[in-house]
Amino acid sequence: MAPCFSRNPAQRFARHLAPSLSGLALALCLGSLIAAAGAQRPMIETATQAHPAAAFAFPASPDPWWKHAVVYEIYPRSFQDSNGDGIGDLNGITSRLDYLKTLGIDAMWISPMYPSPQVDFGYDISNYESVDPQYGTLADMDKLIAESKKRGLRICLDMVLNHTSDKHPWFIDAASSRTSPKHDWYVWNDGKSADAPGVTAYQKRFEHEGKVPPNNWVSGFGGSAWEWVPAVHQFYYHKFYKQQPDLNWDNPAVEKAMFGAMRFWLDRGVAGFRLDAIPTLFEDPQLRDERELGGVNAQGDPNLAGNYTDNLPKVHDVIRRMRAMVDSYPGDRVLIGETYLPNTAALDQWYGGEAHDELQLPMDMLVGFHGDHDKLTADSFRQHIVEVETQVHGSQPLLVFDNHDNVRAIDRYGDGTHNDQINKLLATVLFTTKATALMYYGEELGMTTTTPTHKEDVKDPIGITGWPQEKGRDGERTPMQWTPGPQAGFSTDPHTWLPVAPDYKTVNVQVESKEKGSELAWFEQMMALRRSNPALRSGTMTMLDTSNPDVLSYVRSTGTGPAVVIAMNFTAEPKTLSLDLSSAGVTGTSIKTLAADDASLLSIGTLKNVTLPPYASWVASVQ
Ligand code: BGC
Ligand code: CA
Repeated sequence: MAPCFSRNPAQRFARHLAPSLSGLALALCLGSLIAAAGAQRPMIETATQAHPAAAFAFPASPDPWWKHAVVYEIYPRSFQDSNGDGIGDLNGITSRLDYLKTLGIDAMWISPMYPSPQVDFGYDISNYESVDPQYGTLADMDKLIAESKKRGLRICLDMVLNHTSDKHPWFIDAASSRTSPKHDWYVWNDGKSADAPGVTAYQKRFEHEGKVPPNNWVSGFGGSAWEWVPAVHQFYYHKFYKQQPDLNWDNPAVEKAMFGAMRFWLDRGVAGFRLDAIPTLFEDPQLRDERELGGVNAQGDPNLAGNYTDNLPKVHDVIRRMRAMVDSYPGDRVLIGETYLPNTAALDQWYGGEAHDELQLPMDMLVGFHGDHDKLTADSFRQHIVEVETQVHGSQPLLVFDNHDNVRAIDRYGDGTHNDQINKLLATVLFTTKATALMYYGEELGMTTTTPTHKEDVKDPIGITGWPQEKGRDGERTPMQWTPGPQAGFSTDPHTWLPVAPDYKTVNVQVESKEKGSELAWFEQMMALRRSNPALRSGTMTMLDTSNPDVLSYVRSTGTGPAVVIAMNFTAEPKTLSLDLSSAGVTGTSIKTLAADDASLLSIGTLKNVTLPPYASWVASVQ
């Protein structure tokens, strides 16, 4: 598969993980969703956890809540600062719950808020059962969970299982002596002699006490994946930064401890987890060298295949046990996976295939971060959507276009001229297929990627070591834009941890919520339709006009009541189409526009010769 870092910043993170993938390759809801859908039983599910914050009572639904959900990723540093230190925090999130409710989401995934040295901005955790003081306290988290529940919103946490911080007491103990009880919780190796045959000049760069790392593995974040610890005269393995030592999942004590940490939060009422870098838990026991693909990546390291550190079969045994543990809780707790995979067949394995006994929602990165350099083509979207709806044994797809690791979709898919329309088109795809939808804060506003222009401004370490080829992930992590006022309403501190993007005076919640036709208005409208329209909520989906290279169209139908037809022009030219719904068994002839991002489409009353302006989205009922 593709070599390590792509020079294309658009593909930065997906690509970056891809080599490793090549080898093989959140919770809620709610009363109002249910009320809107109309058909649910009035029964109440009540959790019986020890912690008072956990006593939740979401009305039960015949489907698990996550099946119809919109999950909203919050990067806590960047969402809302409540105490004026320029860094977002949990009380900031709580203060914005009414906004999130109005927007129409069902659940949040909050990126790591645990105590952390913040080398990788929280993905280096030093205590899994607490809250970093920068973000607040455990009591603040309980309050956030409780206040969310009042609004019918669920909270999923990010669970980083592959590695801890090097400042976690487990690792400090593990690195202190070979006989420490925690030593075997991490992945250690004595290394090989620097004089051994075949040791390359590159490997000799990492020589200590006459030893070099046992193999050629490189860290995804630059340099050797092995770090020497003089106290134990051994190397430890780290897939990511050296401050993120990998846990040894072959040691059952590790699984016990990490499941314990998950239970800690499940008991407090969280609805599930987003599992960070989950395919990377195991490494090849023989530590075989990866095949070199030629050339070097943005960090200057050799490009390697990723056969021995990703997607090892044993990870699925852990996931099955984890699923059973999570299923022992009431309320449809959910496991969402960060799963950059090469194809749909690999994705199916993460659901547990036919057995459906692994993750409920592994992310499908093939539509939102697919390999064609993010080309916006109707054919490729159609193909990927059909695949994920038909080749995963009936499991529920999870679509996603944006996250904290990749250039924002509006910049990857945008053409610079029609970015508003393209962002709306992506939202239309996200909210009108059968898939569960995952979105990222600011996506609803059309927030753009603001990559640092000077190396000295970069905060993300990979942007410092990789400069200028790799400028890091700061650009997609800038503060949420709430108002046209100081710091976009994010903080009272003019020194926000990352600068507010320059377009905040027009791209913000306050302005867009008053503007008919804004991106925010479109996102709200799509989410509201998805919630209230039975065909969009649970209808079957049939692709239409499948050889059309320019327009993606499909129909959703429950078989009774109006069907919904969706059509999107994936080009910068007007396109005229005629749609025949007979293949979907839909016979109605009365057409009524439910939503259109161009006034010319509002009064369309036919499926014949409909002209879609450039990048337009059109959603209509058919009866
Ligand atoms: C997260 C990244 C993080 C990495 C290491 C990921 O995939 O999304 O932000 O740097 O895991 O934890
Ligand atoms: Ca703060």
